[in-house]
Amino acid sequence: MELLYLRLLCSAMLASQLLQRAGSNEILRLKIPLDPILNANTVCLTLPGLSRKQLDVCMKNPDVTASAIQGIQIAIHECQYQFRGHRWNCSSLETRNKIPYESVVFSRGFRESAFAYAIAAAGVVHAVSNACAMGKLKACGCDEKRRGDEEAFRLKLNRLQLEAIGRGKGMVHGVMEQLPADTLGPRDSWEWGGCSPNVEFGERFSRDFLDSRDIHRDIHARMRLHNNRVGRQIVVDHMKRKCKCHGTSGSCQLKTCWQVTPDFRLVGSLLKERFNLATFIKSHNRNTGQVEHAHPMHRRRASLGELVYFEKSPDFCERDPSSDSAGTQGRICNKTSPGMDNCESLCCGRGHNILQQTRSERCNCKFHWCCYVVCEECRITEWVNVCK
Ligand SMILES: *[C@@H]1O[C@H](CO)[C@@H](O)[C@H](O)[C@H]1NC(C)=O
Ligand SMILES: *[C@@H]1O[C@H](CO)[C@@H](O)[C@H](O)[C@H]1NC(C)=O
Repeated sequence: MELLYLRLLCSAMLASQLLQRAGSNEILRLKIPLDPILNANTVCLTLPGLSRKQLDVCMKNPDVTASAIQGIQIAIHECQYQFRGHRWNCSSLETRNKIPYESVVFSRGFRESAFAYAIAAAGVVHAVSNACAMGKLKACGCDEKRRGDEEAFRLKLNRLQLEAIGRGKGMVHGVMEQLPADTLGPRDSWEWGGCSPNVEFGERFSRDFLDSRDIHRDIHARMRLHNNRVGRQIVVDHMKRKCKCHGTSGSCQLKTCWQVTPDFRLVGSLLKERFNLATFIKSHNRNTGQVEHAHPMHRRRASLGELVYFEKSPDFCERDPSSDSAGTQGRICNKTSPGMDNCESLCCGRGHNILQQTRSERCNCKFHWCCYVVCEECRITEWVNVCK
């Protein structure tokens, strides 16, 4: 098995810095790069595809921008996972050297475009807020609103320990006396402790960085802003609380909790459901910045959680670069699958060949701070059905 280093934030400058500063991991004998220097020169000035406003944002916070771009890459991997059996499989968003917004699908108004915008925006919130919590970014740290009073907590814990020792004296022939109930804290009470990702910061940065691409209020811009917001909201709404018990011998007299972001796989699955239920909006309505349903019966603002699109997707059967369609010739299909990867559907009725294929796929990808994804390469030899 071979390790592939897929450089994400590939600027020549950053690359040479990474190589110079690369350390090695003694146990795995891998060359794992040390934290790169993330400044305006290494991040912003060498990154193609930034709009004027994004460049401004980047110059102010290059380290946060690097994290945001890593978030976009994670989002693209997830998009590819969610669409692996679809005719359009998100492979076109894979851009090595730049942020992927120049990919054709982003310039269109398809359902797929809606999904791509939403998941990228979600990826930025996710990556930035976690980088905040990891202490990697200058501009943010743990979420202050969800940070407990550590000093007060330590005092409380000390007091409980002293009480426990005191109670030890109350033991009669080694048997603990019955404790009065009120010395035990209520089971379900807890307080903030530890470090929660600053999801508000992540959300704000995602907005500043992605929503600012242009200020036009045409249908495409409205679709983009709306779907960006849907993506961000999914992350915010699915923050989870994790807790830890403290106190004498696992008694959970004190409980501290912190927030964690949802697993990005969950974000991908939820957005995929919204993709299936996406709402078509009219392209010739008033320029109010509002998003309206096309169907007169449902003429209301699209609800906040719905993905919206305004262009019917092509069937993606044949190659057509103008609609981001690679065609499905050569794609592996599944004869018995009831899903999108069924041969009949994936091959668009053209039929399929059965052949033995050896291919390498990247697998077990891990995202490293900052800006790298390290994947293993899995070689697979098997009989497959391949679209004609
Ligand atoms: C996605 O589609 C492209 C173009 O048809 C193909 O080369 C690639 O192998 C597909 N990826 C997966 C995971 O099926
Ligand atoms: C094909 O689809 C069936 C039904 O979903 C599934 O059980 C099977 O594992 C799939 N085969 C391959 C090779 O993916």
